[in-house]
Amino acid sequence: MSTPVRHAHVTGWGRYAPSQILTNHDLERMVDTSDEWIRTRTGIRERRVAAANETTASMAAVAGMRAIRTAGIDPTEIDLILLATLTPDYWMPSTAALVKEAIGNTRAAAMDVSAACSGFIYAFATAQAYVTSGMARHVLVIGAELLTRFLDYTDRNTCILFGDGAGAVVLSASDEPGGGLGIEMTTEPQGAYMIWLPAGGSKSPPSAETIGRGEHYIRMEGKETYRFATRTLASTALAAIQHAGLQPADIDLFIPHQANVRIIEAVAKGLGLPMERMFVNLDRYGNTSAASVPIALAEAVNEGRVKVGDRIVLVAFGAGFTSGAVVIEWTADPARGIAGDAAVQASDIRVRLPVDWDSVDPIPEALAAVMRRPGTVDVPLDDVVPGEPEPVRSAHTEVHA
Ligand code: ACO
Repeated sequence: MSTPVRHAHVTGWGRYAPSQILTNHDLERMVDTSDEWIRTRTGIRERRVAAANETTASMAAVAGMRAIRTAGIDPTEIDLILLATLTPDYWMPSTAALVKEAIGNTRAAAMDVSAACSGFIYAFATAQAYVTSGMARHVLVIGAELLTRFLDYTDRNTCILFGDGAGAVVLSASDEPGGGLGIEMTTEPQGAYMIWLPAGGSKSPPSAETIGRGEHYIRMEGKETYRFATRTLASTALAAIQHAGLQPADIDLFIPHQANVRIIEAVAKGLGLPMERMFVNLDRYGNTSAASVPIALAEAVNEGRVKVGDRIVLVAFGAGFTSGAVVIEWTADPARGIAGDAAVQASDIRVRLPVDWDSVDPIPEALAAVMRRPGTVDVPLDDVVPGEPEPVRSAHTEVHA
């Protein structure tokens, strides 16, 4: 008797976007830019900024729990947690380990995946391999980023592009056909220094000098990155579609990495498809790196853009240079996502901190000044972290409070 073929279906999906909004007009007051330039060159109007009490792990845990609720399973049923990020809470432990505790799972293996903006696709492909090989039944795949703490708000080439957020899916084993169909992943290391964060790693450990030189911020050669993206996204998507035995015209919806609407237009043109087949939400979130595809997927499904039986393509590019695409035949009831989102509030999630955590405020002054304006911020900018003991207020603090 032959063993049934296992398929990996998306059974859950969820997203989390912080409530604070940083508009192009806000950025006009910080750097020499304009709403008009940002809109016409990128398509971005605004992006979300994590509050001081939020971290990559806390956002990831909210999105992850929403995906688990949508899947209708218990967090303890997750066998593996894969978390794609380039902005982990710490170098160690992994952010996935923090998420595992926050969602109340005791048995999953948990690890981070590093492939920049392609990270979610790389993690999804890994999850698919675990599920189809029989090594895991339910895998939680998360893309989460807190990029606004790694941006130089004097560099108009980068600070206008990025935002914060998290998205997640649950991939589950089934004997029924459908789910993940085709995968393609590439890495072109000659692009390694086109988008990078120079200091903080073993090559250049953090020091007063590296910080003085701003080497803890993301640097990017925008034009080279743009060229790579427009060249690679369509070819990577096409390869994944061919691995699935399909043609571009068979695809109902593309969920591309949300970096620049001009790049997405180039992909549509490269594949000979109209823009209606491309899902775009970057106007509201900017580029959230590894979080961008799963946020867009959850929004597309919850907005009714995906039906059972639809074939969709997730495709991304990023630092490395990396690219990746997966083809999915959608099998879950799209209506489940809205209930899954509503079932989990950010305030339900706690990411544990060490009791002797020595607090620092990582929000740069230029951004804090914009966020302090009345009406733009709904939480105090003090460095208050859930679970942290109440700070003892000094006389100095009280004078300025
Ligand atoms: N506001 C106003 N002017 C600006 C700004 C700004 N924010 N940024 C650049 N300019 C100026 C430039 O200085 C230049 O002026 P000049 O002609 O006087 O020299 C002019 O605008 C044109 O600049 P370009 O760099 O040619 O602008 P371009 O049309 O290429 O757009 C952009 C730049 C948006 C960065 C584009 O190249 C792009 O989207 N690249 C891809 C970036 C990307 O997707 N990165 C994420 C990768 S994913 C990851 O792994 C993190």
